[in-house]
Amino acid sequence: MSSKNIVAGLDLGTNSIVLIAASVKDKDEIDIVGIGKSESLGMRKGVIVDIDRTSNAIEEAVEKAERMGGCEINSVFVGVNGPHISSTNNHGVVAVSNENNEISIEDVQRALQAARVVALPVDRKIIHVLPRQYIVDGYDGILDPAGMYGTRLEVDTSIITGARASIQNVLKSVERTGLHVEALVLNTLASSETVLFPSEKELGTVLVDMGAGTTEIAIFREGSLVFTAVIPIGGDHITSDLAVGLRTPIAQAEKVKIEEGCVLTELLPGENHIEITNVGGQEVRRVSKRLLGNIIEPRVREILVLVKEKIKTSGFDEVLPGGVVITGGCASLDGMVQLAEEVLDLPVRIGTPQNVGGLVDIVNSSSYTTAVGLVCFGSKRVQVPKLSREKNIHMSSFFQKIKAWISDIFSPAG
Ligand SMILES: Nc1ncnc2c1ncn2[C@@H]1O[C@H](COP(=O)(O)OP(=O)(O)OP(=O)(O)O)[C@@H](O)[C@H]1O
Ligand SMILES: [Mg+2]
Repeated sequence: MSSKNIVAGLDLGTNSIVLIAASVKDKDEIDIVGIGKSESLGMRKGVIVDIDRTSNAIEEAVEKAERMGGCEINSVFVGVNGPHISSTNNHGVVAVSNENNEISIEDVQRALQAARVVALPVDRKIIHVLPRQYIVDGYDGILDPAGMYGTRLEVDTSIITGARASIQNVLKSVERTGLHVEALVLNTLASSETVLFPSEKELGTVLVDMGAGTTEIAIFREGSLVFTAVIPIGGDHITSDLAVGLRTPIAQAEKVKIEEGCVLTELLPGENHIEITNVGGQEVRRVSKRLLGNIIEPRVREILVLVKEKIKTSGFDEVLPGGVVITGGCASLDGMVQLAEEVLDLPVRIGTPQNVGGLVDIVNSSSYTTAVGLVCFGSKRVQVPKLSREKNIHMSSFFQKIKAWISDIFSPAG
C-alpha cells in the first residue's frame, strides 16, 4: 500500500506503546489498516525515563503495524502526556492590516503569534496555542475570522505547555527510529477527536483518560479545549495495591485486576472466591472477591477525588452539562460509571474509539483511544480540503498558508 495515504499515530503509554496506521481517503473516511503494540519499558508516569528502551519499543510497534497493514510508515503524529503538562489562557490583539479592512489569514496568524507571547520559564515549551474564540471589533464568539471585515482582531487562546526536557526526550526517542515527527499532540486533544461527540465538546464535557501511570484530564467547552491537567496516578497503582494487599506477584495482581477487578465493593458477593499464588509462587490461597473490591475501590476513589479537585480548580465545574467521559485502560474496570458518578456528581459514560473503519474490532477498546485519536487528528491536518471551484479561485493560496500556519503552531521544533 502506498505510504502517501497512510496516517500514523503513536501513543507512548506507560503500559504500552501503540502505533496505529490508517488509510485516509477523506478526512471523514479513515480505515485502520495496521496496529502495533509493544511493552513500554522505558516510561514512567507518562514520561520517558529510558530513551533506548523507548526507541526499541517504538521500532517493535512500527514493524508490527507495517507487517499487519502491508504498508510503510515514515512519519507519525505523536501523543504527549505527563504530569508536567499544564494549560494557561492568553489573549492576542492586532490591528487588521488590509486597507479595505478584510481580515486575512496573515492577520489571524499574527493574532495567534501575539497570543503566543507569554512569560514562560526557559525549561517550559509551548505544545499548542489553541484558539478558543476570535473577537472582531468587540464582537465575540467568532470561530473563523478570515474573510470578515473589521479593524481590530483579538483572539482568546488556551496555551498548552510542557517540560522542555520531556518533550525533547520524546522527539529523540521517535526520531532515533528514523521516523519523522509530523506533530506532537496533547494526548487528550487527540483522544477527543474519537471519543467525544461534537455536541459534548460544545456543551462542556470532561474527558478523563485513566491509563497505567497517569490520569489525564481535559475540559472542552464551546468546541475547544479550555483546560488540561495530568495526575501521576493510574492503573499501575491499583496493581501494586493488589500485589501488596494480596501478597502476590505484580504479574498475578495485574491478571486478577483485569479479569476480576471491580471498583464498587457493594457489587461483589462476599461468598465468591478466586485462587491466587503467593509471592514465592508455591502456595495457592483463596481470597474473596469482596477483598479485591476493598483494595481497588479506595484507590480509584482517590483518583476520582483528585479529578474532582482539578475540575474545581479549572473554574468550569458549574458549566459541564455534557458530564464526564472516561477512557483509557482502567475505564474497563467494572463499576467505574457508578463510582465516578457518585464521586464526581456528574453524568458519566465510558468512551471507546468511534468514527473509524477497518480493524475496528481490535481497536474497539478504551486503551486504544489515544492512538486512534492521533490518527483522526492527523488525518484532518494532512488533508487538502475539497472546495467548490468558485471558492478555490478565491482561496487558492489560503490553504497553503493555513497548512504552513498549522505546521507552525504544531511544529515539534523550536
Ligand atoms: N480490562 C481491563 N480491566 C481493568 N484494567 C485494565 C483492563 N485493561 C487494561 N487495564 C489497565 O489499564 C492500564 C493501561 O491502560 P492504558 O493502556 O490506557 O495505559 P497507558 O496509555 O499505557 O498509560 P498512561 O496513559 O498512563 O501513560 C493498566 O493499568 C491496565 O492494567
Ligand atoms: Mg495512555
